[in-house]
Amino acid sequence: MPLAKKDIVQQYVERYGQEPPLVIRAPGRVNLIGEHTDYNDGFVFPLAINRAAWIALKPRSDNKVVVYSVDYKETKEFSLDGLTTNGKEGWIEYIKGTAWALQDAGYKLSGWEGVLAGDVPLGAGLSSSASLELATARAFASVGNLPWDAAVMAKLGQKAENKWVGVNCGIMDQLISAAGKADHALLIDCRTLASEPVPFPAGTAIVVLDTSTRRGLVDSAYNERRSQCEAAAKFFGVKVLRDVTIDQFNAKAGELDEMTRRRSKHVITENDRTEAAAVVMKKGDAVSLGKLMNESHESLRDDFEVSSDALNAMVDNARKHPGCYGARMTGAGFGGCAVALIDAAQADDFVAKTSAGYEAQTGNKPAVYVCTATDGAKEV
Ligand code: GLA
Repeated sequence: MPLAKKDIVQQYVERYGQEPPLVIRAPGRVNLIGEHTDYNDGFVFPLAINRAAWIALKPRSDNKVVVYSVDYKETKEFSLDGLTTNGKEGWIEYIKGTAWALQDAGYKLSGWEGVLAGDVPLGAGLSSSASLELATARAFASVGNLPWDAAVMAKLGQKAENKWVGVNCGIMDQLISAAGKADHALLIDCRTLASEPVPFPAGTAIVVLDTSTRRGLVDSAYNERRSQCEAAAKFFGVKVLRDVTIDQFNAKAGELDEMTRRRSKHVITENDRTEAAAVVMKKGDAVSLGKLMNESHESLRDDFEVSSDALNAMVDNARKHPGCYGARMTGAGFGGCAVALIDAAQADDFVAKTSAGYEAQTGNKPAVYVCTATDGAKEV
């Protein structure tokens, strides 16, 4: 069962003996299609999921932030005056880093204290860190009466991640955690940050398929892919691959070295697939949407080379089921989760058979579950 408001309220009441004046929820995400496109100024199509970071809190009259983590069973605190890193360790750094990014953007912050809990699995590619950054931003916004603009706050969350935590991510995770819409996926243009909510085809369900594998080398491989994309853009005479069409690519592809050719082919075709996915989804066409998701996986596996044996095994098992329209790895890759679009009426059977098939093939115990699309960061 996903965490609910009553769970975090109960945690707060246990520590403070009364109900919290404020409860904040900021979700994790799963991306339907549009992978490794965000840092190329391209398109992504994620949904905010019913797994989230929760903070129950009360304002303080001083400049301190004091947080008890239910998951780590420890309290950490810091002062908003002259934020320092102290070696940057652990979950509190996401909160500190977000405070720093908000202050750096000129917001005046006031202190608060409370409890934090989350059920976005860590390191699974479902954006647990973005959920914590946006929960923090929302907490400061509520306590300090700051204006809430989802795109602005997402960029500050990203800045915390890039500059404080030191992970060079794009904008997708923070933006969907900030701007998600219940029952919809968001087609996001990562150049303008404009987003368009699109409802799911009737009778379908979205399934998260966690391989329960985690790969340590994700960061370096991710940075390497980013550099390769930059080099490819340079070759085409543009800043970002968003600005290369498939015709331009085809005309010059022969002059590229094999690796740059494959990396850029993925990004350019993935952008086209993502826009196409929104078009077919608006028509309620689950079959075409599933097909695009399948093609995305093949492209990530063969051309962008960010899949893994476990992810491929999960995707293969998912696709064996008659209720599956399409399945692909989701997030940065190298481990973590896949996502599938399925016939909702066959959900139980799909979950059971895909889990069993994957476990039999790999020996790993997966976590496979239907998820629902929720709103972005807000007071609840
Ligand atoms: C990670 C990053 C995102 C995005 C995806 C790949 O989740 O945080 O910005 O680049 O990988 O699509």
